[in-house]
Amino acid sequence: MLKEKIRKLASEYAGDLVNIRHHLHANPELSYKEFETSAFVRQKLEEYGIPCEIKAVTGVLGLIKGKNPDKRVIALRADMDALPIKEENNVPYRSKNEGVMHACGHDVHTTCLLGASRILNELKNEWEGTVKLIFQPGEEKNPGGASIMIREGVLENPRPSAILGLHVHPQLEVGRYRFRGGKIMASADEIYITIRSKGGHAAAPQQTADTILIASQLVVALQQIISRNKNPFSPSVLSITSFQGGYTTNVIPSEVKLMGTFRAMDEQWRFEAHTLIRKLATELVQSMGAEIDLHIDVGYPTVYNNEKLNAIAEAAAAEYAGADNVEESELRMGAEDFGYYSQVIPGCFYRLGAGNEAKGITAGVHTPTFNIDEEAIELGAGMMAWLGATVEMR
Ligand code: NI
Repeated sequence: MLKEKIRKLASEYAGDLVNIRHHLHANPELSYKEFETSAFVRQKLEEYGIPCEIKAVTGVLGLIKGKNPDKRVIALRADMDALPIKEENNVPYRSKNEGVMHACGHDVHTTCLLGASRILNELKNEWEGTVKLIFQPGEEKNPGGASIMIREGVLENPRPSAILGLHVHPQLEVGRYRFRGGKIMASADEIYITIRSKGGHAAAPQQTADTILIASQLVVALQQIISRNKNPFSPSVLSITSFQGGYTTNVIPSEVKLMGTFRAMDEQWRFEAHTLIRKLATELVQSMGAEIDLHIDVGYPTVYNNEKLNAIAEAAAAEYAGADNVEESELRMGAEDFGYYSQVIPGCFYRLGAGNEAKGITAGVHTPTFNIDEEAIELGAGMMAWLGATVEMR
């Protein structure tokens, strides 16, 4: 049976895959600079006998044809970039690139997709259709590598009927998987505000506009958009994360800068909120006598899991891993550029358990001590191969 064959190959390749993960982990590269990683991925695919091409400078697109290649086309996606974090793990495969770390597990995602590719290619006479392998750059940084890969045509010729992607989850025990239909992750937009006045003597505030006070009012007022304008049933977050201005006790500074992030689960509300943020900020600051520059850097869209595809993928996952090991995913206000794919074709983004409380593997993603239980690699590669070979979206 195909399932057993996949399981067997995943177990056979597991040692190799762990070595691949160690290599990637030791040699992390920042977003859009994944040159070595990209060359490594291409080298591996060629080694396996899988044709591939370069997309979006450091992205890689591979193609595996099974029996009746036109019958169904499915895309599998992995991201390859690392983060500007200094690794604190004391492991033999610790980052050799000082200040850069695979702290979001994209080394694991790339490894799982390489493993799935090898398995699918080995068994290509045993499943039907075509599997597209998307190794993308720049998940961690706007505009998001996914948007560039799409622009470069990875979802065309042939057009997949669905795309699947995974993320390791250290708060989920290894061996477990999470799926959820509908909205699953938030959109993320960045807010940049500069408030200006002519500044002046702190003893004579009447002669200027107090940028510190105005910025303080604005930070508080912006929260009203979330608490008073938003539908209470739709999750959304606005956090002002940086407040910079002033340098001494007796001067009202001529400039204060604010930065923040805005997240939403609803695309319509998201853009309504942008309008509200702009109007409130501009009118409040001007009414208090200062000037404002406001820029909203529009980031990733919400990640939407097609309900039907998710149900199909979840059932397939339960068949592979046992129903007891598949559970419902929680909503998260984090963002993922996978959302771009799911705006074009049905997408399903699922979570791969990678934590192990008994072994003390619990550190969250984006922390300097993030790591995984490496049992997750064999499981993740096998599951991805199984979904790639069987999921069909009609
Ligand atoms: Ni990530």
